[in-house]
Amino acid sequence: MTSRFHTFTAILFTIMVIATVSIPSTVKAEYGDIVINNFSDDAQIRPVIFPHWFHRIRYRCKACHSDLGFQLKAGGNKIDMLKIINGEYCGACHNGQIAWSVENCDMCHSAKPGTPTQVHKSTKQILLSPLEKTK
Ligand code: HEC
Ligand code: HEC
Ligand code: HEC
Repeated sequence: MTSRFHTFTAILFTIMVIATVSIPSTVKAEYGDIVINNFSDDAQIRPVIFPHWFHRIRYRCKACHSDLGFQLKAGGNKIDMLKIINGEYCGACHNGQIAWSVENCDMCHSAKPGTPTQVHKSTKQILLSPLEKTK
């Protein structure tokens, strides 16, 4: 009885470990996402996918488009990492206090290389770069 119980818990534990490991830790692309690629391709890093709706449901438009000075145009801001680290643009929140910090490169730089700056309008279009190939 006890040994069967132990076998069962061992199997259950294994399943839990596999389930945890196989949950993708990346973000998903969705309708309305904005791809920002003014500099990324040239810098040989994957373009940025900015999940607009994800942020819109959390913040007022004014927080970004007025207070933080984001222009209302995909690619309309010349964002670079120096500005972000200095607390401008994405860096106003992605600073390890309001939201996770800049060392999570892959969270932002997640688009397939070569994807032009755009507002993502189709759920059939694949934006995300398969991580295993680009690591
Ligand atoms: C919070 C989001 C975010 C994170 C995290 C982030 N970046 Fe960026 N990064 C951006 C955005 C937005 C741009 C502008 C993209 C463009 O216009 O092509 C950018 C641009 C760049 C550029 C090109 C411009 C420049 O500054 O030279 C490089 C290189 C870069 N990132 C490297 C990195 C590396 C390396 C990391 C991790 C240490 C990182 N980024 C983490 C958002 C992020
Ligand atoms: C967390 C910050 C943030 C919030 C909140 C936010 N936006 Fe944005 N928005 C952005 C960024 C970043 C871009 C892309 C700018 C770039 O590519 O440089 C953008 C782009 C846009 C664009 C241009 C899209 C295009 O067609 O080129 C519009 C329109 C827009 N936002 C409207 C809104 C409205 C309306 C709200 C509120 C309901 C809102 N945004 C809330 C950050 C935000
Ligand atoms: C006004 C604050 C704010 C600004 C500005 C901001 N973010 Fe975020 N962002 C957040 C918060 C809060 C989260 C949620 C963090 C968490 O889940 O721990 C988030 C999450 C994300 C995620 C993960 C979405 C997911 O599905 O989990 C990405 C990708 C991201 N931001 C990219 C960006 C980029 C790129 C920029 C600049 C163009 C930016 N953010 C600007 C506050 C901001």
